[in-house]
Amino acid sequence: MRQYWSAKAAHPDAILLFRMGDFYEIFFDDAKEAAPLLGITLTSRPAKDGRLPMCGVPHHAWQSYVGRLLKAGRKVAICDQTEPPMSGKLVAREVTRVLTPGTVLDDVYLDPSKSNWLVAAWSSGDESGLAACDVSTGEMQLCQLPTTGLTAELDRLQAAELLSPPDVERYRFDPARGRHRLRTLLGIHFLASIGAEGAPLAVGAAGVVLEYLEHNRVPLDPRSLRISTRSIESSMQLDAATLRNLEVGALFELCCRCVTPVGARCLRRWLWSPLRDPEAIELRLSAVAELTDAERLELAAALRGLGDLERLASRAASGLATPRELAQLCRALATLPAAKVCAGAGSALLLRQLAADLTEQPELVALLSRALVDDPPAQVSAAGAIRPGYDAQLDAIASASASAREWLAGLEAAERERTGIKSLKVGYNRVFGYYLEVSHSQAAGVPEHYIRKQTLTGGERYITPELKEREAVVLNADQDRAAREQEILAELGRRVAAVGRELLSTAAAIGQLDALASLAATAADCEWVRPLISSGRELNISGGRHPLVERSVGTGNFVANDTQLEPERGNMVVLTGPNMAGKSTYLRQVALIVLLAQCGSFVPARSARIGLVDRIFTRVGAHDDLAGGMSTFMVEMTETANILNHATPASLVVLDEVGRGTSTYDGLSIAQAVVEYLHDNPRLSCRTLFATHYHELTTLAERLPRVRNERVEVAEEGNQVSFLHKVVPGGADRSYGIHVAALAGLPSHLIARARQILAELESHRPLEPAAQQLGLDLQPGEAELRRELAAIELDQLSPLEALRKLYELRGLT
Ligand SMILES: Nc1ncnc2c1ncn2[C@@H]1O[C@H](COP(=O)(O)OP(=O)(O)OP(=O)(O)O)[C@@H](O)[C@H]1O
Ligand SMILES: [Mg+2]
Repeated sequence: MRQYWSAKAAHPDAILLFRMGDFYEIFFDDAKEAAPLLGITLTSRPAKDGRLPMCGVPHHAWQSYVGRLLKAGRKVAICDQTEPPMSGKLVAREVTRVLTPGTVLDDVYLDPSKSNWLVAAWSSGDESGLAACDVSTGEMQLCQLPTTGLTAELDRLQAAELLSPPDVERYRFDPARGRHRLRTLLGIHFLASIGAEGAPLAVGAAGVVLEYLEHNRVPLDPRSLRISTRSIESSMQLDAATLRNLEVGALFELCCRCVTPVGARCLRRWLWSPLRDPEAIELRLSAVAELTDAERLELAAALRGLGDLERLASRAASGLATPRELAQLCRALATLPAAKVCAGAGSALLLRQLAADLTEQPELVALLSRALVDDPPAQVSAAGAIRPGYDAQLDAIASASASAREWLAGLEAAERERTGIKSLKVGYNRVFGYYLEVSHSQAAGVPEHYIRKQTLTGGERYITPELKEREAVVLNADQDRAAREQEILAELGRRVAAVGRELLSTAAAIGQLDALASLAATAADCEWVRPLISSGRELNISGGRHPLVERSVGTGNFVANDTQLEPERGNMVVLTGPNMAGKSTYLRQVALIVLLAQCGSFVPARSARIGLVDRIFTRVGAHDDLAGGMSTFMVEMTETANILNHATPASLVVLDEVGRGTSTYDGLSIAQAVVEYLHDNPRLSCRTLFATHYHELTTLAERLPRVRNERVEVAEEGNQVSFLHKVVPGGADRSYGIHVAALAGLPSHLIARARQILAELESHRPLEPAAQQLGLDLQPGEAELRRELAAIELDQLSPLEALRKLYELRGLT
């Protein structure tokens, strides 16, 4: 147990797998935590002080078990036996590997369509620094940003592993140290060369990442490391709530027709951080437009052979590639010229740029295909990877070994003939190696140069110097061969590393080409059109569709709808309509069209003109965050507050039934105040869609010039309601909630009773007329007072004006 404790002490935060015979055993608290995660039974064995909890996994299946622990976000240390077991003696053990979710390199643990980010984040007051490193591809992104944007950035990255305080402290956050580390690692003088001179917090975070990698002995080859500094201005921030509400994950599934994992990762990145630079968007749109059917198919066919060039190149450059992976790399590189021709054939600027980024590697391909056999082994240590004829030394070893074996095989016959001893045999045992054996009766005829080694009951055993020489050749040949193969493989790895940078930028270009082709394929399949991007504040969509709902109801069955938000003619819509009418669908569809357009994708609409949006905010549906200690209503209000605090006039705000999580009057009051606030505050006044069941809110359009009412239509025939899903001007007056409840299959006498209660309530009309009702919770002057207050631009006001304003406001009460 002493061995166990010393290993545990070195890696206190990891679950320790301790090799004992055919099992990896897990003890104590580790066992209690791991057993449920691994789905194995927790057992115990007697110990000095009570029983010792433990569980174990068979050693040959450790990878899949470790995978489950990593998926659960845990760190794993593997303590192996480092010498063969001998009875009566304690075997030596050592921690041989530490695996963490953000630093694993083995393919078995990596999702090919996702970047595997190890992220360090640090905040200092209003500013935060962030460094994200994907060790499997050698990419590192630095970003310094306002602390308010940190959570959204972390949501976007979906880190496999996050180092934040208190971990960060353990790995020493220190900008000066980080700067020093980066400089020495990259061999650069000025951080400006990676665009990081004005980002000390990000540089400090990068230092933490590098420190952590070193601590866990993760190899990082500076030649395959690509560091860039990201500005959050360049892309749209989407917070976790918005990513979830809009089902960006499902959108990715719909759009992803990538033929390489690099492409899938690239597309995922695009969808999770849409662009804000109109030129960059146009570049992508033109490329997508150009990839028509024939070209797309040709490009996809050329790209298909490229596999995961990024991870292959990165592993090869770090010396981790197996012979099989080197052969894959070789085959991938061999298909590059075709891809380059395809991509370069078009006239779209981005396609031609990307084609130019594809660097062909004819020498490397020639070298690798000369060096490696057609189907090399998957293990680094296995022999037989190198093609005969490639290396003279290896061939010499092989032929010497072959001729020695041949000589040994022919020895028995040759010696029998030479000596005339019929009983002479050649044998082999572990202690003596090869020997010649002659029976006692014929021992007298043995030649002089035979050296006697052993006398047995049946005969005598001899060796000769030549026999021992040949034996040494055979026995050493295997070792020599393995050693020489390793040398050759290492040299091949160095040759790959020498062009590592080119390979990785080639891979990055492949990823983009693949993502563009994928978007083009989706556009063609789903009949999407190219959007027009403008620098204005309008949003004009005709015949817009929700890409995911459309797929689920069937293309012909989806009712397309128009959207018109313009600063002059009203850019806020209060949307009412019965349950199940399609309000939420409509809201999400508008947001998704904007998101897709700014990723450079075509959009599901007949036409779309979109004034650039800086952020999409959504508040949709009810969910709670019990783990985070928030009730449903608290989550709703927190998300709403986030929107009101961070939206700008260029944002798109989508609010679905804000206020529904509380009592009717409270909810209605909050909903109305939110619309007023968004309308009146000059810092906001952004494009807004607000769906609600509070029909009272439709009166706002009379007072607030930029608010318009729209409703989703239903057709009513007798007791039957059919949903038309068509958005038309005007407000709705009924919810048809009971009708929907009936459709959902609630018992018929319950439905009858509900209709009765509704009739009673409606006869009392506690919520009507609207004018009275709206004032219910707010004192008459209060709403106006609030609006006035919100409209004051504090930083524009002189002290005297402020005083005057105060008097004015008091007059309102
Ligand atoms: N434009 C459309 N064309 C066809 N079907 C639609 C359309 N919009 C919505 N639907 C269908 O109606 C269902 C309900 O839509 P949605 O959830 O948007 O209604 P809602 O008005 O938000 O209802 P609630 O008030 O209960 O939240 C969708 O799941 C979809 O099947
Ligand atoms: Mg809804």
